Parts: sequence; C-alpha cells; structure tokens
Amino acid sequence: MTAPNHGARHVAIIMDGNGRWAKKRLLPRFAGHKAGVEAVRTIVRAAGDLGLEAMTLYAFSSENWKRPEDEVNDLMGLMKRFIVSDLDEFAANDVKLKVIGNWRALAPDVVALIENALERTSGNKRTTLAVALNYGAQDELVRAAQAAAAAGEISEAAIAAHLDTADMPPLDLLIRTSGEVRLSNFLLWQSAYAELYFTDILWPDFKPADLQAALDHFARRDRRYGGL
Ligand code: FPP
Repeated sequence: MTAPNHGARHVAIIMDGNGRWAKKRLLPRFAGHKAGVEAVRTIVRAAGDLGLEAMTLYAFSSENWKRPEDEVNDLMGLMKRFIVSDLDEFAANDVKLKVIGNWRALAPDVVALIENALERTSGNKRTTLAVALNYGAQDELVRAAQAAAAAGEISEAAIAAHLDTADMPPLDLLIRTSGEVRLSNFLLWQSAYAELYFTDILWPDFKPADLQAALDHFARRDRRYGGL
C-alpha cells in the first residue's frame, strides 16, 4: 500500500484568501485571519497524521508591512496568541516549531515569544512546522549569498547550506489557495523542482481532504528533475 503522502516529505503553503472569505460573509478581515488560524491548526495536525516531515506556512511576508497598520497589528496579535496558546498542542502532536525570515527584526515581545517556543519545542520530532514571518525569498537569498561569500565559497551547495530552510528536507509540493497563480516571493530557491498546486479554495476553507487531494495530484506527476 502506498503511503497517503506519496513519498512527499515537505509541503509549503501560501495561505491566501482570508480577506475574501470574510468579505463573502460580510465580516471584517480580522474574522478571516482568525478563521485562517483555525485552518492552520487543523492542517498542521493533518500534516503530522499524513507523516509529512515538514510543513512551511507563509504567515507574514516582508511586503505585508504595506497593509494598514490595524491589519498588521491584528496579524501580529494572532501570531503571538498562536505561538503561546498552541505550545501544548505542539507538545501533544510532537511538532517542532521553526521560524524562517527576518523574524529577529520583529517587536522584542514577539521575538521573545518565538525564542521561548523554539526552545520548548526543540526536542519534538514528528513534524517540523516552519512559519515564515517577515519572510521574503529574495531577502533570504541575499542573506544566504552574503553568508556563503563570508565563508569563502559561492556555489549552489554553499548557498543552499545558508538558506533559512537548510536543515529541512527538500521542498516537494508548494500549494497556493484562493485562485492566485504566483509565488509572491516565497521559497524561490526551494521551489526549483517542487510541484506547484493551485486551488480556488480560500484558506479558511482548506481542509485535510484538500491537502490529501494536493498530495494525490503530486503523486500523479512525473518528476524528472530536468532528466528524461
Ligand atoms: C492572505 O489572506 C493571508 C495572509 C496575509 C496571512 C496569513 C495568516 C494567517 C492564516 C494567520 C496567522 C498564521 C499563523 C501561522 C498563526 P489575504 O488577507 O491576502 O486575503 P485576500 O487576498 O482574500 O484579501
């Protein structure tokens, strides 16, 4: 019997459509982001159940600062609450938290919460949940290239070794919800050979069955990595 993850080890998601989900229900955007956090909880649990080693979620991009101040504050508030209130859940599900991006530049209270959560979950082994916070792939690549240059070697291997995701399995599948078909500066290096899956489902409506459908789609692809 084939495994339900079809051999995929690392799945990344651009969680898009919270605002439209709320608008459809005549609710404020905040309600959409709150429902988005619920979807995160469910999908992280499903990732563990499916035997995925890693999941990377695009929570806040380096471009999201351009949103109205109230919305930025709402998103940061939700993130803080998620990191604090889900520590028990991470322990119960053996989830190791990782944060990628320029998160050390965030407000000191957020940085402290993240540091505590990283430490508290560092021994967990089943699934790594990487949350991209203040993340931009071009910024990540510049930082990796600078670190590689400082170590005296610029090569594919040296740059890969300095990416934020260096200790994670290769990216197998990148999902974007809500019907938009672009990468929006997310995991540009890592997606070189990843399968891309776009769905019209809005993020708060994305369910474990939809993750399974994306993995089934992944299983039908013929990955040749440039060969025949
Ligand atoms: C896109 O929806 C979503 C975001 C910019 C933020 C994603 C954040 C969450 C799901 C909540 C926090 C995450 C974690 C990991 C706790 P949008 O606002 O761009 O929607 P729209 O395109 O419909 O307006």
